[in-house]
Amino acid sequence: MSQWPDTRILDLLGIELPIIQAPMAGATTSAMVIAVSNAGGLGSMPAAMLSIEQLREELRTIRQHTRGPLNVNFFCHQPPLPDEQRARDWKNLLEPYYRELGVDFDAPTPVSNRAPFDHAACEVLEEFRPEVVSFHFGLPAKSLLDRVKATGAKILSSATTVEEAIWLEQHGCDAIIAMGYEAGGHRGMFLSDDLSSQVGTFALVPQIVDAVNVPVIAAGGIGDARGVAAAFLLGASAVQVGTAYLFTPEAKVSASHHKALRTAKESETALTNLFTGRPARGILNRVMRELGPMCDKAPAFPLAGGALMPLRAKGEADFSNLWAGQAFTLGVEMTSAELTRRLADEALAKLTHC
Ligand SMILES: Cc1cc2nc3c(=O)[nH]c(=O)nc-3n(C[C@H](O)[C@H](O)[C@H](O)COP(=O)(O)O)c2cc1C
Repeated sequence: MSQWPDTRILDLLGIELPIIQAPMAGATTSAMVIAVSNAGGLGSMPAAMLSIEQLREELRTIRQHTRGPLNVNFFCHQPPLPDEQRARDWKNLLEPYYRELGVDFDAPTPVSNRAPFDHAACEVLEEFRPEVVSFHFGLPAKSLLDRVKATGAKILSSATTVEEAIWLEQHGCDAIIAMGYEAGGHRGMFLSDDLSSQVGTFALVPQIVDAVNVPVIAAGGIGDARGVAAAFLLGASAVQVGTAYLFTPEAKVSASHHKALRTAKESETALTNLFTGRPARGILNRVMRELGPMCDKAPAFPLAGGALMPLRAKGEADFSNLWAGQAFTLGVEMTSAELTRRLADEALAKLTHC
């Protein structure tokens, strides 16, 4: 029998340990998902940067190597309407960098893509029937969500405010990810784009726990077992941990991201919209420092990244997103399986002695 003080997420998702490896588009590999799942946590495969065929391939691999429950994660934003003037203004702002690096300014701007959940992705879910499906930026249209629910999947989504948590519960989520301000990657915010509405994990988790009836998963700034135990004391039934998994050999991170995670100072993360058009937390680099991390001229999500792509080829560290949460210096090199077990074992020991 489980000794965890709250087993609602364990029972709901069919996992042994209340540790959810966060889906991290671009950084999570099927090897990471398999390792976490085999260790007893919930492995999460992000789909936002995969083609439908790549997603099928990843899910096939995961299903071959683990029998544990699987979470598949999608973005569900509205793709923006084209805005040529904004695209031009943005590229003009970046022109000095093109000149400095000798990159052809007049070449067509590449299109950066983060795919939203759609009919084709839904068919993949109907084929593989993952036990859990999580969304970021709200929920998809009801007709699509009904199809996902019909597969039997439990539905999760991120809330960054109490209002979003209540909305997600009312619209059919089985559990809510309370995503604090500390978290790495894109803010899951979807009811407001006002950054002053964003709340830290310590304040957000208990307020969401009080406001909804479904179980709550704490995310953001949880870098070791102290954070896991604290999340339980705040009323969470599980945690979702992202940045700490970037230090595992199963993570796919670029050389500059790898270096920044190990050398930046604790205070050197910020929310930035420069890389995609939506606020996301990453380690400060040159373009964030020089333009300011938030810029009105950045085109709508996910288009902003296109004009930065040619610059990355010449100056990767200066022009790439280096996503990380505020607790990134707690990261320790170990395998995904070890990290999952250590977070759980040490947190349980702390909670037992409370
Ligand atoms: C590199 C990176 C990529 C991320 N990509 C996604 C994603 O594709 N989907 C998603 O729902 N959340 C994404 N997130 C947010 C995480 O799921 C999670 O909420 C967050 O990492 C928790 O905070 P922490 O990084 O402080 O542990 C990402 C986070 C990081 C660090």
